[in-house]
Amino acid sequence: MSNITNEFVETYIRELLPESKGLFKEMEIYAEENHVPIVHKEVASLLGVLTRTSGAKKVLEVGTAIAYSTLLFCRAMGEDGHITTIERNEEMILKAKENIKKANREDQVRILQGDAEEILRFLEGRYDIIFLDGAKGQYNDFLNDCLHLLKPGGLLISDNILYKGMIATDELVVRRKRTIVNRMRSYLETICDHPQLETSIIPIGDGLALSYKRQEE
Ligand SMILES: C[S@@+](CC[C@H](N)C(=O)[O-])C[C@H]1O[C@@H](n2cnc3c(N)ncnc32)[C@H](O)[C@@H]1O
Repeated sequence: MSNITNEFVETYIRELLPESKGLFKEMEIYAEENHVPIVHKEVASLLGVLTRTSGAKKVLEVGTAIAYSTLLFCRAMGEDGHITTIERNEEMILKAKENIKKANREDQVRILQGDAEEILRFLEGRYDIIFLDGAKGQYNDFLNDCLHLLKPGGLLISDNILYKGMIATDELVVRRKRTIVNRMRSYLETICDHPQLETSIIPIGDGLALSYKRQEE
């Protein structure tokens, strides 16, 4: 139960979407068995649609895990797309590399190992899409660097922004998550009111924010 939407709606949507095949199915099973949080099915399909319709060819991701979303972006961009993905957990990186190799996408993926806050500070380039799917309490720390790295007209996608419903109501907040909740609320207020961004909050998966970076800088 995600507390984001009605369970019967979520179940209906998930059943409606086609079952994954091959490596994606394998990764879903691995994630389930090993408790690795990967994007929900309905979020995965939205990422695919957004990537394809925007014609994105350069993606930056924070939070690789086993490279499930990394490979979703690769598939949607096609062979001339490129993704830079940041991960701090060594074990995850090993599994991600294995999956990227199996998918034969090694030329399209650059994994940067370390803490995203440090790495983002020194990263260069301009990205069509930035996907934030790392530590929920840190999004505010990433924002300025992400804005700098996102091209005008680009899309910042932030995952887990409703965090099991806790962000929307204090009634669901468990005590040990209070700091994360406060930080995420502050992040959402910032991106919803930011002069460079036009943001839409989508209550699917664990909550997704789509922020378009205005053309004028
Ligand atoms: C939700 S998982 C990512 C799932 C992946 N995007 C997917 O859907 O397939 C979050 C990952 O972000 C990594 N992470 C969290 N905070 C990070 C940080 N500050 N820097 C680098 N990696 C981070 C964690 O180690 C974890 O593997």
